[in-house]
Amino acid sequence: MTSNSYKLKINTPTIFVIFGVSGDLSKRKLLTALLDLFNRQALPDKFRIVGVSRRDWTQEVFKKWVTEALVINSKVKNKSLIKKFVDQITFQQGDFTNLNDYKKLAEVLDRVDNSFGQCSNKMYHLAVPPDLYPVILKNINKSGLGEVCSGEGEGWTRILIEKPFGRDIKTATKLDMLLSRLFDERQIFRIDHYLAKETLQNILAFRFSNAIFEPVWNKDHIDKIVIKLKETDTVDSRVNFYEGVGALRDVGQSHLLQMLALVAMENPGQFDAVSIRKARAKVLKELSVVRRGDLGESVVRAQYQGYKSEKGIPKNSTTETYFYIKSFLKNSRWKGVPFYLESGKALDKALVEIKVYFKEDAGCFECATDQKPRNVLTFLIQPDEGIELCFMVKKPGLDLEVIEKKLAFKYAEVEEESLLADAYERLLFDCMRGDQTLFASTEEIKYSWKFVTPILKNWQILPLINYKKGSEGPRQKLIL
Ligand code: BG6
Repeated sequence: MTSNSYKLKINTPTIFVIFGVSGDLSKRKLLTALLDLFNRQALPDKFRIVGVSRRDWTQEVFKKWVTEALVINSKVKNKSLIKKFVDQITFQQGDFTNLNDYKKLAEVLDRVDNSFGQCSNKMYHLAVPPDLYPVILKNINKSGLGEVCSGEGEGWTRILIEKPFGRDIKTATKLDMLLSRLFDERQIFRIDHYLAKETLQNILAFRFSNAIFEPVWNKDHIDKIVIKLKETDTVDSRVNFYEGVGALRDVGQSHLLQMLALVAMENPGQFDAVSIRKARAKVLKELSVVRRGDLGESVVRAQYQGYKSEKGIPKNSTTETYFYIKSFLKNSRWKGVPFYLESGKALDKALVEIKVYFKEDAGCFECATDQKPRNVLTFLIQPDEGIELCFMVKKPGLDLEVIEKKLAFKYAEVEEESLLADAYERLLFDCMRGDQTLFASTEEIKYSWKFVTPILKNWQILPLINYKKGSEGPRQKLIL
């Protein structure tokens, strides 16, 4: 898929503007993704990056900073290629709240357009804290930066924004209303980078290109589905962002629910952006809201020991760094099948996976009395991307004994591993192509908040459990 998709590159002049270029996201993800695309010759021939930040940097200081960031964070090691790439980047100082600075930015973009000889495509990436979204979006609009080119065949304008989209259903709706007042839905690219991870994209390919699984992909054959996003990192340098956001808003409302959507959605019939996003939204709409009275049974919230001693965290912080939710879908395919969602920081291992547990086989062939064989299908998202299927076989030998074995596929073992695209690389490339499949739609955001908001509202009635750094997380009776 990756190799073909690069043939789909656009080749019309394009300017990529990063608001918040000096920030962590830009440094670790965006600049490296753009360099990767440049390395693969997947960017338009006429391409310019304009980085905007408050910093009082000269062009030279900025380019040195970008080069150092790329040397540390990128897998591309070719120095002359990095230099060529950095030569295409311009710095523009700006205060996000000052309309005049947007007008100055517009002049810079005009000059680039003149050098290109036409009005180019514009991509505006908001790599800033979410509370700055409204002011930036309004100023992009007021300053005329949001206008599309008027000439035939000339450029489009697109906005990329990062999760979290709001703090709850109310603020998400407000942000959405602002976006839809200022831009057309086709111009808005809401990033949930998990959607662009290779193995998550693979779920649809796997489910809908292998006829053997679809007939058993339902409550009659599947016992439970467990979705985990475990991290070993603490909140570290992101305390300012994390405190007051917490694990459920940070990754629950977005990454975990998107994984659930992909594994549980119906076959969209067609594999275009509209149909796939609709199918994802539909399944999110069907999530049963966890009732207040069921919270104790279905939800765990916890914080790692030492979180409150991290620099910048209030001593009385109740922000969760871990959550666990048992959820259900109200549809005929999944009625009664629990979907367990678990995520936490500072845990024993870094692991993202989806495990599909098929029902135990009651009529097991030659099983020991305490043996409960079942097939388990695992989508390994990271590390070691791949797919595994557990199945039972006869143990070799004269005895009749049944043992468990695995069929496994690992991306690392396939020839095309070098073609594996990083999630951001995929997203920026798709945004350039105008393909919104791997971006969250307004409906998906709405339904995921509808599920998460009632839990957040009642958060305080649940005990905040403490767990040790480097442990498996809170050991609860609910944990599998
Ligand atoms: C981000 C969250 O969206 O995803 C982080 O804000 C989290 O807290 C990260 O660490 C995980 O992403 P990845 O790609 O490193 O698994």
